[in-house]
Amino acid sequence: MQTRITELFGIEHPILQGGMHHVGLAELASAVSNAGGLGLITGLTQRTPELLAREIARCREMTDKPFGVNLTFLPSVNPPDYPGYVQAIIDGGVKVVETAGNNPQKWLPALKGAGIKVIHKCTSVRHALKAEAIGCDAISVDGFECGGHPGEDDVPNFILLPRAAESLRIPFVASGGMADGRSLVAALALGAEGINMGTRFIATQEAPVHENVKQAIVAASELDTRLVMRPLRNTERVLSNTAVERLLQKERELGAAITFEDILPEVAGVYPRIMQSGEMDAGAWSCGMVAGLIHDVPTVQQLIDRIMGEAHALIRERLAGLAR
Ligand SMILES: Cc1cc2nc3c(=O)[nH]c(=O)nc-3n(C[C@H](O)[C@H](O)[C@H](O)COP(=O)(O)O)c2cc1C
Repeated sequence: MQTRITELFGIEHPILQGGMHHVGLAELASAVSNAGGLGLITGLTQRTPELLAREIARCREMTDKPFGVNLTFLPSVNPPDYPGYVQAIIDGGVKVVETAGNNPQKWLPALKGAGIKVIHKCTSVRHALKAEAIGCDAISVDGFECGGHPGEDDVPNFILLPRAAESLRIPFVASGGMADGRSLVAALALGAEGINMGTRFIATQEAPVHENVKQAIVAASELDTRLVMRPLRNTERVLSNTAVERLLQKERELGAAITFEDILPEVAGVYPRIMQSGEMDAGAWSCGMVAGLIHDVPTVQQLIDRIMGEAHALIRERLAGLAR
């Protein structure tokens, strides 16, 4: 299946793996790229630019296919060493960067100057248009259903994707709620040129996370996610657990007076405990509503082959049959 996205990134299938904190390590990124998609290392999971350089080198040993790096720009008191991370990406010969969280304009000259394609992930048409105007090559349109940060507009992909198609000239992928061949065909019908998946890729054999995390996703239904940190305008969709329910109780009790410090026990530094140690109630961790569509833990190759097989069958048989 060729689209502007497969051409832009030099990949076989229009399937991207979004950056995921403490999940997007070389094991998963290389597995996705080896299966014909585009795998991404999550930059900030590596605590220093030197460690990111090492992770890029490790990934290169595991695949000779293109892979990318996610760079997330989040508001923080002590910002990470972004110039160092950008340099590690350039020096590592990476050809694709997924930016997210904030306007990437400041970093575009360096990235584009090194021949790197930039796909910016955003949750609104106005931010997508801004990214197009400043020179990004593609957009990952992240709908309200997504795991992670859906923004504050709450527009689901059935509306957001066709709105993006009406407005954008550069290609975009559908992100949030994507799980299978049906998702891919629907995304294509709505104007996207591929899909980006987060939660679905965690429940794979190669995802370098504790088995408890994979089983929690398989066990969860589409009703099991919660939105936290809305009062802080930093909304995150997470899987419900005791820490999340405690966090929501604090939000109800403290109302508009709540500060980030109030919820530190539920959100700060919890990812390694969850992803590596499998402590499922350690804190809030991103998970999409798409968990309701995830029922197994295949290899990445099986997952991508299945998606492409289902998509081709849907287009050729079901849809072509209906259109006769
Ligand atoms: C556990 C987890 C961690 C994530 N961490 C990041 C991150 O660090 N940076 C980022 O840009 N997106 C992050 N995301 C969002 C994903 O890249 C992707 O946009 C999202 O998962 C798509 O929605 P889906 O889960 O419904 O597929 C994360 C998602 C999950 C599930």
